[in-house]
Amino acid sequence: MHHRFLFVLSLLVALLTFSVIHIKAQPLKALYLDEKQPLEERVKNALSLMTLEEKVALCHAQSKFSSKGVARLGIPEVWMSDGPHGVREEILWDSWSEAKWTNDSCTAFPALTCLAATWNPEISAIYGKAVGEEARYRNKSVLLGPGVNIYRTPLNGRNFEYMGEDPYLASQMVIPYIKEVQKNGVAACVKHFALNNQELWRDHINVELSDRALREIYLPAFKAAVTEAKVWSVMGAYNQFRGEHCCHNDLLLNKILKGEWQFDGTVITDWGGAHNTLQAAMNGLDIEMGTGTDGMTRSVKNAYDNYYLALPFLEELRKGTVPERVVNDKASRVLRMIFRTTMNSKRPWGSFATPEHAQVARKIAEEGIVLLRNSGNILPIDASKYQKIAVIGENATRNMTTGGGSSSLKPKMEISPLKALQSKYGSKISFATGYASGPPAWGRVVPSGLNADSLRNIAVNLASKSDLVIFVGGLNKNHEQDCEGGDRQSYNLPFGQDDLLNEILKVNKNVVVVLISGNAVAMPWVNNVPAIIQAWYLGSEAGNAISAILSGEVNPSGKLPFTFPLQLSDNGAHAFDKLTYPGENGREVYKDDILVGYRWHDTKKIAPLFAFGYGLSYTSFVLSEPQTDKKVYSKNETVKLTFTVQNTGKMAGAETPQVYITQKNAPVLRPAKELKGFKKVFLNAGEKQKVTIVVKVKDMAYWDEKTTNWKVDSGEFLMNLAVSSGDIKYSLPVQVK
Ligand code: BGC
Repeated sequence: MHHRFLFVLSLLVALLTFSVIHIKAQPLKALYLDEKQPLEERVKNALSLMTLEEKVALCHAQSKFSSKGVARLGIPEVWMSDGPHGVREEILWDSWSEAKWTNDSCTAFPALTCLAATWNPEISAIYGKAVGEEARYRNKSVLLGPGVNIYRTPLNGRNFEYMGEDPYLASQMVIPYIKEVQKNGVAACVKHFALNNQELWRDHINVELSDRALREIYLPAFKAAVTEAKVWSVMGAYNQFRGEHCCHNDLLLNKILKGEWQFDGTVITDWGGAHNTLQAAMNGLDIEMGTGTDGMTRSVKNAYDNYYLALPFLEELRKGTVPERVVNDKASRVLRMIFRTTMNSKRPWGSFATPEHAQVARKIAEEGIVLLRNSGNILPIDASKYQKIAVIGENATRNMTTGGGSSSLKPKMEISPLKALQSKYGSKISFATGYASGPPAWGRVVPSGLNADSLRNIAVNLASKSDLVIFVGGLNKNHEQDCEGGDRQSYNLPFGQDDLLNEILKVNKNVVVVLISGNAVAMPWVNNVPAIIQAWYLGSEAGNAISAILSGEVNPSGKLPFTFPLQLSDNGAHAFDKLTYPGENGREVYKDDILVGYRWHDTKKIAPLFAFGYGLSYTSFVLSEPQTDKKVYSKNETVKLTFTVQNTGKMAGAETPQVYITQKNAPVLRPAKELKGFKKVFLNAGEKQKVTIVVKVKDMAYWDEKTTNWKVDSGEFLMNLAVSSGDIKYSLPVQVK
């Protein structure tokens, strides 16, 4: 009895002690730390515990690539990294120099132009997943990408980082990338919002354009990123729009992004993109990052407190010129992003530079390469036909993941085209560089010290003794090529490549051109060259992907995400005066308006060199039996266009049927046609498949400047079923009532 009493007593004591400890422990776990609580409650709670100074500290950089958390409350810092083609190497705290880590060599994925050229949202998903895993492994909260500025002119130095000229294609391709990155607990940061469509004078050029062009062409991919992919951060652009810098632009950030689209994440400046404290405070910016050591000049060390959204902002708040709700909103957005990323205890661990990621990079590259020309079926290369194969061109050996500006990477490996071709064709291969350029350098062109004449002579001599020439040229990542901070100076190929090609063609007609670029180029030799592939910047597995396509191991299935004009003046941005491109006295007026890319070519009836959406295959396809599910539709219905695709050739391959709409007798200007649907279809030789592409009638709208809203007119529309914007197979009329 006595024992039993003692036992019960000790049990009671234990229980009491436990509950005391337990009850005592409760207040230690503040609500914001409890992941079971609703996100908004946690944000409110954390905010309520913070001082004004702590809130302001969330709103600006503390180093080149990080901003503060709240150490006192266990809320971690925000670490960011470029983006978008892989996770950049670490750099020093307060300078752009490499930190020289030995464990930050990444997988280089293909450039986003290549991704867009796959026309395959599933490929965008595996891209986002893999690059997101790399960012997570490196413990980044934000990956600075993807970029969706619209391809307006082939001279823009940064087109390679974007997804082409069409708002619908870019929207469809950007969504899966963002969703998959963010599944890793890493915020994607869609950039550069908005109208950063050229690099020349990007820090100040003031862009003016119609509301229609803004809404129909330049904003849709950003809108898709926000409203459909639910992106957690957005980067403002360097340039001005209607007289205000985009990083603190009331219309873009407050009214459209945060108002209309209900964006609840953070707006981050482009580096050094803020210019004014009051505007930065009031016009929708949340985090200010910098380029110079004090964000503006290069004179001061660790001067992050001088940023517009640092001490000067705090001062305005203290004076009351800026109400506290402004900093509360900014800090809430930053907290929300931190809770979604670093403070999500369930986020996976990520992985880095794995063989699996290399395979993903290769798959994207293989699906994005576009076969532009293949006369006499010279491709795929039949190795038994050739004893001597000359590889000519600097891009056969050049490292293409370094340079180009902020997207430059330190890859664990990069297989060059020459190396891959040597492993495929062995001793049949000889190489001559043919032409040379200097190394990449920020903001300046470093010429090559090599003698152009002797390089050319050696190459032409080699071509004359070879059975087949594979010319690997194009642009590179140097200043004034495909590179941030400058635009191209000419539409032609640089470094004397046109002349070199003409000389080669005089001694050898069997020339396959492999163009590596993120931009269209003039091809004065186009009709003399039997085969051309557009190979983009392909990342770690570049050479392997190119050689798989050339050899026929992989059947090309990429389609162009932008038009190749015959000459520069055929492009809408170059059809007017200087004010339209590149701008005059700090102003630029987009007189090409809504007629960007193929919309210009088709409406003005200017035949391109290669059309948007174009790309060949080693097999052939036939589209047949197209029909719409109805003839008359109301404005909230969807048009279902069904047809059959058959692979009529001898090799498995993929075709991408595209649906373009045309509005007949429109009361306002409408482009001759606009892409509204597509589907990549994989078929074995002889195989047939029924395919349906769905177009929402509401997506056939234009932006009505009178009502400042989207409008679908009643009347007749054509549903054009095509295999490129230049090749319509069927036009089916439908009525909208
Ligand atoms: C670029 C951004 C980039 C940032 C950070 C800027 O110069 O425009 O795209 O994310 O630098 O490197």
